[in-house]
Amino acid sequence: MTRRILRTAGLAFFALGMLFAQTAPKVAATGNAENGKKLFTAYACYQCHGYLGQGSNAGARLAPKPLPLAAMIAYVRKPSGQMPPVTAKVVSDAELADIHAYLETVPAPPDVKTIKLLNQ
Ligand code: HEC
Repeated sequence: MTRRILRTAGLAFFALGMLFAQTAPKVAATGNAENGKKLFTAYACYQCHGYLGQGSNAGARLAPKPLPLAAMIAYVRKPSGQMPPVTAKVVSDAELADIHAYLETVPAPPDVKTIKLLNQ
């Protein structure tokens, strides 16, 4: 009886382990959006990209729907255009994950068809 319970418990832990093994990378990739919003201002990203990451004549649009986190980090470390590179000494990967989480909270603009003034 005890052996059977132990075996069942062992199986359950194994299954749980598999579950966490699969979800772990996702957990690591989520940042703190509230902190990210502050960092986006503190590190002056907003100066070129706008407070909502909407873009301007000095920087590309980053949100809504930002690049995947890994691609964003890769770009920031080694930009190919006008943007100055930002090293991990200045803004860490964890801070970029927070900034990414903030950019993900920026809502999409309303569909043009739902704006009355533009449909008269
Ligand atoms: C001096 C202006 C400037 C600042 C400051 C700046 N950027 Fe940029 N960024 C740009 C420009 C311009 C581009 C468009 C591509 C290029 O020319 O490099 C860009 C592109 C990007 C892209 C790639 C967008 C895409 O879809 O390809 C990301 C991501 C990005 N910036 C993130 C950031 C973050 C995060 C910060 C703050 C740490 C930041 N930028 C600060 C000017 C700036």
